[in-house]
Amino acid sequence: DTKVWKVDKYVDNLENNPQVVDAAHFLQENEVVALPTETVYGLGGNAESDVAVEKIFAAKGRPSDNPLIIHIGDKQQLNAFVTEIPEKAAVLMDTFWPGPLTIIFKKKDGVLSEKATAGLDTVGVRMPDHPVALALLKKCQLPIAAPSANSSGKPSPTNAQHVIEDLNGKIAGVIDGGSTGVGVESTVLDCTEDIPVILRPGGVTKEQLEAVVGEVHLDAALIDEASKPKAPGMKYQHYAPNAPLYLVNGSRAFLQSLIEDKQKEGLRVGVLATEDSVESYHSDVVIACGKRSQLESVATALYETLRKFNQEKVDIIFSEMFPNTGVGHAIMNRLQKAAGNKMITE
Ligand code: TXA
Ligand code: MG
Repeated sequence: DTKVWKVDKYVDNLENNPQVVDAAHFLQENEVVALPTETVYGLGGNAESDVAVEKIFAAKGRPSDNPLIIHIGDKQQLNAFVTEIPEKAAVLMDTFWPGPLTIIFKKKDGVLSEKATAGLDTVGVRMPDHPVALALLKKCQLPIAAPSANSSGKPSPTNAQHVIEDLNGKIAGVIDGGSTGVGVESTVLDCTEDIPVILRPGGVTKEQLEAVVGEVHLDAALIDEASKPKAPGMKYQHYAPNAPLYLVNGSRAFLQSLIEDKQKEGLRVGVLATEDSVESYHSDVVIACGKRSQLESVATALYETLRKFNQEKVDIIFSEMFPNTGVGHAIMNRLQKAAGNKMITE
């Protein structure tokens, strides 16, 4: 069965913590282990091993054309598997690592498993800002491939319980380091061309990136639904709760009228609201997902909220919308994917 290591992220000397040391051994033996990061839980495996990487894809049921992010605990590790570190990438690493920024580099062949990078000639790398993840990475001394530790298509896990729900019995172990903080995944930024391109919005915002390196572009697929995304994973439906989800572009009164229409049809209706609006809806299940004035708190609670609707067994979910600025960009991107782009406008 799946082993659970409980680790308090605030204790000293995590690198020599017996639980962390045990988990590091599993990674060195090419077993897969779920670990906390500051964004979401990852499902880690030795990125140099086809065997380990195959276990990751199998446990998640992930399509093999979707490359994994490589996690490192020390910038020096990069030189082994990237051909060059462009100037802008170096500045971004200094500013945002450890942190929720994945940088795409040109790949050196023959070091990482080809399966980890899905046969591409580039590789996405990040250094997570979580004491347990960093301790584990330093202890095992390996580049660790880690997608989010959910079943493919499901909301990403923000605590160890979510991982167990999806992957119990399918992975060697999970380190329970408590809830993650940021709540949405890292920003994926392609730095292989002169002007960096955001392939997936995430924990580091476009505004923050531009303050450091100037102009930053958005992948066309983030602007126009018809374009083919450059991050292979962005073409799949993702983060989806069991019930159909609709984004509601309108007033609270309009959303309330939608609730009543569906209740008349006999459906159990869920509403994704915020602390500001939770009292204004009358429905079967209304969940406050953070505070509108602090979009970071919405991001933190987003995936857990989507999972709660599954426990509540609702038939349909209506969600409020959020501004497309700052971390709101990542929130809206995930909600649109979870909704399969279904939106109702007043
Ligand atoms: O916050 C995160 O990034 C989490 C934690 C665990 O670190 N990881 C994560 O991994 O979200 P995953 O596998 O769920 O998402 C990786 C995304 C996918 O959309 C994938 O297509 C893209 O990154 N990606 C990875 N390598 C790429 C590459 N070489 N070129 C373009 N896109 C890439
Ligand atoms: Mg994922």
